[in-house]
Amino acid sequence: MAGDKTVESTGFMGWLDRRFPATSTWKAHVSEYYAPKNFNFWYFFGSLALLVLVIQIVTGIFLVMHYKPDAERAFQSVEYIMREVPGGWFIRYMHSTGASMFFVVVYLHMLRGLLYGSYRKPRELVWIFGVAIFLCLMGEAFFGYLLPWGQMSYWGAQVIVNLFSAIPFIGPDLSIWIRGDYVVSDATLNRFFAFHVIAIPLVLIGLVAAHLVALHEVGSNNPDGVEIKEGPKDRHGRPMDGLPFHPYYTVHDIVGVAGFLIVFAAIVFFGPEMGGYFLEYNNFIPADSLKTPPHIAPVWYFTPFYSMLRATTDDFTWVLSGAAVLGALALLVKGRGRGIARIALPVILIVVAVLLRVLDAKFWGVVTMGGTVVILFFLPWLDHSPVKSIRYRPDWHKVVYALFMIDFVILGYVGTQPPSPALNLTSQIGTLYYLAFFFLMPVWSRLGTFKPVPERVVYHAH
Ligand code: HEM
Repeated sequence: MAGDKTVESTGFMGWLDRRFPATSTWKAHVSEYYAPKNFNFWYFFGSLALLVLVIQIVTGIFLVMHYKPDAERAFQSVEYIMREVPGGWFIRYMHSTGASMFFVVVYLHMLRGLLYGSYRKPRELVWIFGVAIFLCLMGEAFFGYLLPWGQMSYWGAQVIVNLFSAIPFIGPDLSIWIRGDYVVSDATLNRFFAFHVIAIPLVLIGLVAAHLVALHEVGSNNPDGVEIKEGPKDRHGRPMDGLPFHPYYTVHDIVGVAGFLIVFAAIVFFGPEMGGYFLEYNNFIPADSLKTPPHIAPVWYFTPFYSMLRATTDDFTWVLSGAAVLGALALLVKGRGRGIARIALPVILIVVAVLLRVLDAKFWGVVTMGGTVVILFFLPWLDHSPVKSIRYRPDWHKVVYALFMIDFVILGYVGTQPPSPALNLTSQIGTLYYLAFFFLMPVWSRLGTFKPVPERVVYHAH
């Protein structure tokens, strides 16, 4: 391809480029990918998530070399890794710490998206791939947690798989099908192992690739929510508010990686259990199908959703049912569209309101837990604010977002604690706020006085 500037013509790279799009891919995605010049620390978390993904895969490969997916030997094989395998403790603690840090990084990465409206047009697909990644990560963590075959592994899996039995008609058979047995057993361990080491990682890697390809197609958002592609361009057609990703952001990200590794190493070397939050104490006891631990709680990253499951008691379904009726009435009064379209949603809400009282509360708990994750897929269409970034929203929107974050943390804390009347009420209020935040977003997100959005990004050299 003589004259094509995206390929090298001589040497090894010339040989390679005539057979494989090496230089053009490097240029398109790294050295000539123009990213907004006003990225701040929130933009570290995407590359940190990539780093943790690599750490998990590499340490996982070494763990599999010594781990035995067998109910008789799994627990012992983990102890063997910790005590006998040279450096085994280090590999295992990197993997267990990596699991929690993955969620720390991904939650902050998602929060950044929420604050700067990174899910809005044209990045809906970037966000949708992201939520699919989040679901996969949850599956990956859940399947992986059974593998050490400790008490929490065993009973946690028992509780979660039992939830499926709450689904009307097919539930009980479905949960037996998932376990491969009437209780969590060797068959369950083997299939969870298969999902944890190969099935989900493959999907995860594919989704991460799709996430990045979709992002690079439309370009990155930034803290101002201003599209740099629509701003002024230089004589080569490059956005004036953009910087080539390499070397500017590769070097920038090294700072984030260094900070992250300091925290990561401190945890691995000085507190890998993190007070029972990263590695639960009960999981140092081998699984015993005859001894149920008094308090079964999932690992911290699941507890906000677990709280919402527990919040959905029979009494609480009255509240949800009432909210559905109110929603239906509001839509009927204010409704848009004509004919069927105008009444379809209110009718669905009324049916849900009735079913909320007819079907078992346990089933609605499962629906609430799943629904509070699935609703994230719809975020790009729930937010009707005229601006993307929180910077240009009315000040009271910031309060709404701050309360949402506090709510999520409180729900997470409550989920780690044994149930009590006061904590149950707290989780119910927290669940209502979480649901209202999303379901009422089409209304509240357009209210208030918005600040003028600048035409170009705001950038102050450090
Ligand atoms: C394994 C997990 C993930 C990896 C490796 C990953 C990786 C990345 C990378 C490298 C970027 C570009 C750098 C940056 O903007 O920080 C990015 C951007 C983005 N990610 Fe992720 N991501 C992951 C999970 C998620 C999840 C769970 C969501 C949301 C549910 C998400 C939503 C986004 C969005 C909206 C952007 C564009 C941000 C912007 O341009 O402002 N990602 N991701």
